[in-house]
Amino acid sequence: MKALVFTGIRRMELQEVPDPVVEQDGDAIIRVTSAAICGSDLHMYEGRTSAQPGMIFGHEVMGVVEKVGNGVQLVKVGDRVSLPFNVSCGACFNCVRGFVNACLTTNPASPGGGYGYADLGPYRGGQAQLLRVPFADFNCLKLPGTPGDRWEEDFIMLSDVLPTGYHATIMADVIPGSSVAVFGAGPVGYMAAMSAFLRGAAEVYVVDRSEVRLRKVAELGAVPINFTEGDPVEAILKLRSENKAIRESLRPGEEKMAGVLCGIDAVGYQAIGRPDPNQERPVQVIEDLARLVDATGSIGLIGVYFKGDPGGVDQNARQGHFTLPLGALWEKGIKIETGQAPVKRYNALLRDAIVQGQLMPGKFVSHKLRLENGPEAYEKFVQRGTGEGAEYTKIVLKPNG
Ligand SMILES: NC(=O)c1ccc[n+]([C@@H]2O[C@H](COP(=O)([O-])OP(=O)(O)OC[C@H]3O[C@@H](n4cnc5c(N)ncnc54)[C@H](O)[C@@H]3O)[C@@H](O)[C@H]2O)c1
Ligand SMILES: [Zn+2]
Ligand SMILES: [Zn+2]
Repeated sequence: MKALVFTGIRRMELQEVPDPVVEQDGDAIIRVTSAAICGSDLHMYEGRTSAQPGMIFGHEVMGVVEKVGNGVQLVKVGDRVSLPFNVSCGACFNCVRGFVNACLTTNPASPGGGYGYADLGPYRGGQAQLLRVPFADFNCLKLPGTPGDRWEEDFIMLSDVLPTGYHATIMADVIPGSSVAVFGAGPVGYMAAMSAFLRGAAEVYVVDRSEVRLRKVAELGAVPINFTEGDPVEAILKLRSENKAIRESLRPGEEKMAGVLCGIDAVGYQAIGRPDPNQERPVQVIEDLARLVDATGSIGLIGVYFKGDPGGVDQNARQGHFTLPLGALWEKGIKIETGQAPVKRYNALLRDAIVQGQLMPGKFVSHKLRLENGPEAYEKFVQRGTGEGAEYTKIVLKPNG
């Protein structure tokens, strides 16, 4: 089969590789109809993880079941399915409690398995024509419709960024009426803003510097904040203080709640610093959220922070050690939640919300490309909404044409 192979930092190559085969009775082989490129793939692409040349990336995958092992009972050849990026067994101590992001049996090295990702186990990724899916009965989410239909670009978001963005709103305790600030208007930030509205948020501010991405979040009804035009925390505080209805409803003391209750970091450790955008500052967003989120509020760190980063800005960053404004966070009694999203907790219901027309995550897709265009797609997407990559908000590859 053909697959996109990582051959070194900022190098992807289309190669002919052996087809995957059924290795365990519970496996299925999927013919991939869509495979997206995730912001997380960029960390590997840029040499910011332990990913080694020869790897096939791709953890946002959907397709049609081509073959199943003898032990597979619920999934049939010909089924259209979405795969969660987490590879999980469904039976271990963590899986049975819903923490499929920390499955104890699928990754020998640590809790949590995943397709085509550094340190997430031996699984090949789906930026390829075929994908082997372990524990197929548990992992395959059945989809209605037929490949290439009007839902294809919506459903491909079910593997990762949609449930991930949704999970961020759970982490940040978004409920009806909430005030929410999302840092990052990439795919995860966009899905977090969309999910915040689904959960009834009253105000959603989204911070980034990419005008194209900010325009897309504005179409959802969010307030776009460009951090190159000034301190985004000050900008949000100012907007809220100028809001007559908010101002008129404050009783004495409540001016201390001038920020937001829910904060989401959809950027992670490769955050662009301020004032110098050429300077990476891994803690930039956490510092901003510590200033912006009010006492009693909640923060979801859905953007990743790894414990090893070969390209880290200094010795501490290379080991995943960061200096946090813990005092400010502690004094305000802010809850912080971190980690990978447990996709299976949400994907069936989010699929149904798509089918009912409540969610249209596919609107963020800017490019549908053939697998051979993968190397160029990575080159553009890694510019994260700037320069020649300005228009590349989300790329979906079509490995089988
Ligand atoms: N926890 C999980 O399960 C999970 C799942 C998927 C992705 N992720 C992570 O989420 C993060 C975002 O993913 P994505 O696909 O949207 O990536 P992306 O790289 O396309 O988007 C990141 C965006 O953040 C913006 N940004 C950079 N510095 C900023 C700053 N200081 N303030 C505000 N915005 C800033 C960039 O301009 C960019 O648009 C990545 O770290 C990714 O690895 C986590
Ligand atoms: Zn991802
Ligand atoms: Zn498990």
